[in-house]
Amino acid sequence: EEGFKVAIAGASGGIGQPLSMLMKMNPFVKELSLFDLQHTPGVAADLSHIETLCKVGPDQIYKALKDANVIIVPAGVPRKPGMTRDDLFNVNANIVKELAEAAAEVAPKALIAIITNPVNSVVPIVCEVMKKADKFDPKRIFGVTTLDIVRSNTFVAEALKINPKEVNVPVIGGHAGNTIIPLLSRSTPRVSFSDEQIIAMTKRIQNAGTEVVEAKAGAGSATLSMAYAAARFANSLMRGLRGEQNVIECSYVASDCGGASYFATPLVLGKDGVKENLGLGELNDFEKKEVEAAIPVLIENIQAGVDFVNNFK
Ligand code: APR
Repeated sequence: EEGFKVAIAGASGGIGQPLSMLMKMNPFVKELSLFDLQHTPGVAADLSHIETLCKVGPDQIYKALKDANVIIVPAGVPRKPGMTRDDLFNVNANIVKELAEAAAEVAPKALIAIITNPVNSVVPIVCEVMKKADKFDPKRIFGVTTLDIVRSNTFVAEALKINPKEVNVPVIGGHAGNTIIPLLSRSTPRVSFSDEQIIAMTKRIQNAGTEVVEAKAGAGSATLSMAYAAARFANSLMRGLRGEQNVIECSYVASDCGGASYFATPLVLGKDGVKENLGLGELNDFEKKEVEAAIPVLIENIQAGVDFVNNFK
């Protein structure tokens, strides 16, 4: 029976634990390797009692990542009220740089899904590390933006009073503030919101992470919805690896179609990661303006990641 090895770096955290549980219950996963700086033996022992075939173990970093098909990275510190995703940069950049160096060594063919914020900068860090190790394949490195899509679907469904499972809103750009660009004009089913409603809905989607940070009042940022979104994305990566056709997810990747060198767009996923980048597609005037406003922010975020790796002493 075909099955994949999935490694989670940061497996004991607020995202890592529910994500590990969802992966333990995913029938495509035959081996689940958990890595964290703390508590992994307990998390692994606990999950190992769940009655699925998936083998689960705590491992040191090299063993955990070795020959993994999919590596999911929620390692790092989360936001507190008043912090932006960029405020996390220094701590999290170091954490992910080390993980990427290990992945370049022992899992150069893995599909790597980055959750650690600021995603806009952390994905370029992983790519720069891979370039230095001569292992860079832009089709294999993803910033997980699925929570932006999940939130868009939920909020639009609420407004239309329909089942969110029936809604699909593509979201392009990046994964922070005004770089998050929901394409409400391309939502299915089609929606006819007024201009004011579109502006309000777009703002709510862009600030949804902060809604959770404030509600948690110091206890961190989104964990359960983020774990759900990452599990959905990892499942799509594995559907692509299995050769399923027309698996499409939006994700933040190295790209030449957005006006910045990394950009989230809808991607067709396949056996080597990105099979086809579907690009920005048709945008209305409001969405074009949103893209224009996002590009300079993205360029700055990307440069911070690139500089972090290349000026590292
Ligand atoms: N290697 C492996 N794991 C690490 C490392 C490291 N170098 N450094 C920290 N960790 C682990 C921590 O031990 C902790 O278990 O990462 C986990 C992070 O968990 P939380 O602090 O609960 O944070 P969480 O809410 O899960 O968010 C993690 O995802 O969405 C982003 O902004 C969020 O960057 C943050 C990350």
